[in-house]
Parts: sequence; structure tokens; C-alpha cells
Amino acid sequence: MRSYVCTRCSNLLELVKDGPVSRSGLYGEVGQPGVWRFRKALPLEAEVKAVSLSEGGTPLVLVSRVAAKVGLKWLYVKNEGQNPSGSFKDRGMTVSVTRAVQGGAKLLVCASTGNTAASMAAYAARAGVTAMVTVPAGKVASGKLAQVYAYGAKMIRVEGDFDAALQITLKAASEIKELSVMNSINPYRIEGQKTNAYEIFEQLGYKVPDYVVLPVGNAGNISAIWKGFKELKEWGISSSLPHMVGVQAAGAQPIVEAFEHGRDSVRAVQPKTIASAINIGNPASWKKALVALRDSKGIALAVTDEETIAARMELASTEGIFVEPASAVPLAALKKLKGKIEKDATVVCICTGNGLKDQESVKVQLDSTPLVATPEQLVSLLAKTA
Ligand SMILES: Cc1ncc(COP(=O)(O)O)c(C=O)c1O
Repeated sequence: MRSYVCTRCSNLLELVKDGPVSRSGLYGEVGQPGVWRFRKALPLEAEVKAVSLSEGGTPLVLVSRVAAKVGLKWLYVKNEGQNPSGSFKDRGMTVSVTRAVQGGAKLLVCASTGNTAASMAAYAARAGVTAMVTVPAGKVASGKLAQVYAYGAKMIRVEGDFDAALQITLKAASEIKELSVMNSINPYRIEGQKTNAYEIFEQLGYKVPDYVVLPVGNAGNISAIWKGFKELKEWGISSSLPHMVGVQAAGAQPIVEAFEHGRDSVRAVQPKTIASAINIGNPASWKKALVALRDSKGIALAVTDEETIAARMELASTEGIFVEPASAVPLAALKKLKGKIEKDATVVCICTGNGLKDQESVKVQLDSTPLVATPEQLVSLLAKTA
């Protein structure tokens, strides 16, 4: 395995590319949907064939009813659950798998709380290479496990949490050179995920949002989206930057704690949250996350599982957008921040994963659901509701 850590500063490596220096340069790639539309901003040669499932290009939806409840006017949901495998991971995976396959990789590996595994398995299938995933035993939503199986990946359960799975996976990869690691320590993942910033900017009519609110687990996504917005500004395409609002679960909030206490390192915790995708106690990209939060004059806060589940139900039942628990933490956070963000601010919540992946946490009360057998019974029932 190649090393992704700088030997001098021990930070994770980052790819730097001279970008397109004009808006038309960045947005002008016609005929390519989503992520690969931004090929000029990705560190891959033009002739490399993308391993793609048409990822990216997800909707940015104005959610006025939820906005009113949290004291805002311009609240948007970037619905990343509409990616091919149902989460934002596909943005990064298309780029990292393309790069790995270009370099001759045959065996892809990752540790995962579920979505990375599902995404990697899908892109490995698309590329015709083998996928091996490690997951924390008993801590992954069943919809994600079903995806991994269906896409034909080999799955290994690890005793412990995600942090243990990542640690032993990286150790194995350092000893077996055939393994290519697809976790977000791989900088090509970050390159794909940064395209979300470009899309948001375009979908808002070439405007940078005032706030970007997103869930933080291993902290790759906050690093990536911040990188995307910074590039837009450095290339002269935009003139401002958003405040990044990083949200963790109360039972897994090492980055929030470090940020609040002004510390330059995170203290690993034993994670425990119903939002299994962000059940991470020792995030790999914590340094980049702290930089994004501090440099953007952002906010870091945690929400309880109860607040998360309530926010998830509210988004689904008032706006028709069903997200997984981790994706509801930004909305739960906005409730807590009510009155602290200017009413007229443009706020984008990154809803990272589809609700169908994690059905365990929705208690369907089938026993109390009406049961009919005749048209008369149905008419009488509907008449009472009408
Ligand atoms: C649905 C979902 N939301 C948020 C996250 C957190 O992203 P990151 O680990 O990049 O912070 C994950 C990571 O697995 C995820 O699957």
C-alpha cells in the first residue's frame, strides 16, 4: 500500500491541481453528467477512462416548511441519497477507483460503517475488480450490508467499532501490496467529493452559500467540501467562502470537543450513536476538519439521537425527503442553532445518505394500522379521514 501520510507533518496527503481559471472552464464540460463534468479540476489525465455510474448532479431542494421551523428563509437540502449507491461516497469512489484501476489495481479494500463499503463494492463491480470490505460487527444498517452482498464484495466482520476496523485494515494493507485502500485517507476520494461544492455554487446561481451544514464522522467530507469552495475562490470563480458547520452525534463527538476547547488534537472516544454511519470515535481526517471549521469561522456542535430521529421524521413527513439518521444531524443541529444564524442567510444541509438504507430506526407500527377487507369498510374509513 502506498502511504497517504506526510512524513514531515504527519497530516494526510492532499492533491493540488492548477484549476480552470474561469467559470466557463470549470462548468463548460458538456455531455458529462455529475462528477466527471468537472474533469478539468480533477487530477487525472484527460484520456483516462472513468469508472462511472453517473454519480453527482444531485438535486438541491429548497425546503421552505422545515426552514420556517428553524427560523430560516433560504434552507436547501443537497440530496446526496440520490447517488447511484445511495450516498455521497459515490462522488469520491468514482475517482479513487478510476485512479486505482488505471494503476493496475485488482483488489480494492476499505473499512466502513456501511456506505463506503456499499459504494466501493458497486464501483469494483463496475470496474470488474475484486472488493473486500471490513465492517464493525453488528454496527452496520442492514440495507447497506445487503448492498455489499448484492454487488458481490467479500465482507469481513471485525470485533469492535469502525476505528478498530480501519486500524487493522490499514495494517493489512501495509503488509499486502496488492491491496488498494479506498477509505477517505486516499486523496482521490477527496477530489471527487469536492465537486459537491462546485455543484452547490452553480445550483445557487453562482452564489456561495453562507453556511454549509453537514454530518462529520471520519471527517473526509467536510475536508473535501471546504477544499472545493476554497478552490473556487483561489481560481477567481467565486469571491467568498461559506461558514462550515460540522455536526456530530452526542455519543461520538471528538471533533466538536476539540473545536470547543480550542485543542490542536482530538481525544479518541468510545463511540455510541444510532446514526451508525458516523459512529466513529477516532476520525482519520480530524486535522483537516479542524482547519475547515477554524478557517471558515464555522461552528461545531453535537446532537442527541432523539433529536436526530425527530429531525429525520420531520424532513420526510414535511418535505418528502427520506434520509438516513446520519444525514438528519444537520437539521437537528439547525433546530439548536435557531436564532443564531441570520434569518436571510442561505444555508445548505448536506443530506449524505438515502433513508432506505437504514430502516431499523423507523418503528413501523403495523399493529395499529387499519385493516379492511371490503370496499364498504374502505369507504367508511376514508370518509372519516376526508
Ligand atoms: C451517510 C453518511 N453521512 C456522513 C458520513 C460522514 O462522512 P465523513 O466520514 O466523511 O465525515 C458518512 C460516513 O460514512 C455517511 O455514510
